[in-house]
Amino acid sequence: MENVILVDHPLIAHKLSHLRDEGTETKRFRELTAEIATLLCYEATKDLVLEEIVIKTPLEETTAKVIKGKKVAVIPILRAGLGMVEGITNLLPAARVGFVGIYRDHDSLQPVQYYSKVPGKMDERLVLVLDPMLATGGSATHAITLLKGEGARDIKLLSIVAAPEGIAAVHAKHPDVTIVVAAIDRGLNEIGYILPGLGDAGDRLFGTR
Ligand code: PRP
Ligand code: URA
Repeated sequence: MENVILVDHPLIAHKLSHLRDEGTETKRFRELTAEIATLLCYEATKDLVLEEIVIKTPLEETTAKVIKGKKVAVIPILRAGLGMVEGITNLLPAARVGFVGIYRDHDSLQPVQYYSKVPGKMDERLVLVLDPMLATGGSATHAITLLKGEGARDIKLLSIVAAPEGIAAVHAKHPDVTIVVAAIDRGLNEIGYILPGLGDAGDRLFGTR
């Protein structure tokens, strides 16, 4: 699949198995979501541009590499994307955080937007859109369209579990967006849930239902 990065790593595989397990309770589910987000972020930022600076170690002067001042925006799709934020900002403490509130209508599965607040200068930023679940792709596609409307040009979508249908839907409208995922599952059931998936990510993160 073009412009899709499936992060294949034993740590992710192990943590994802526990995340999927219906016996995993809320506290651990939250921790695992954040930990997997950190690992996805490591992969999603591997092409950040570096520059050389001069530093002094306790022994001598040397050149060293640092990230060349790329501004980053982290945009969780509410609610479930919130569970990934801390895992990302632990690695990127200077990143600005914005929010897009979207829920899926239960019957139509169409995205319904109820909130948005994004940082300025979106055109200068690497924009990391966070949502653990990419199912039909409606929510992510809507959020990316909104962010492009705010000027965003360099966008990556970080999801933990994706359905092939969701990847195809996002790329049908936004082929320029790199999708970074921990797993690509079999598909969707008749009510739009990912199989085998992990259930309702928002409910499992926040203990609702
Ligand atoms: C879930 C999930 C995604 C969306 C994915 O949110 O967090 O945002 O569904 O489905 P899609 O790809 O078919 O759009 P939900 O609507 O359950 O809202 P919540 O996070 O507030 O629970
Ligand atoms: N949203 C979820 O939280 N889980 C799914 O499987 C599909 C959409």
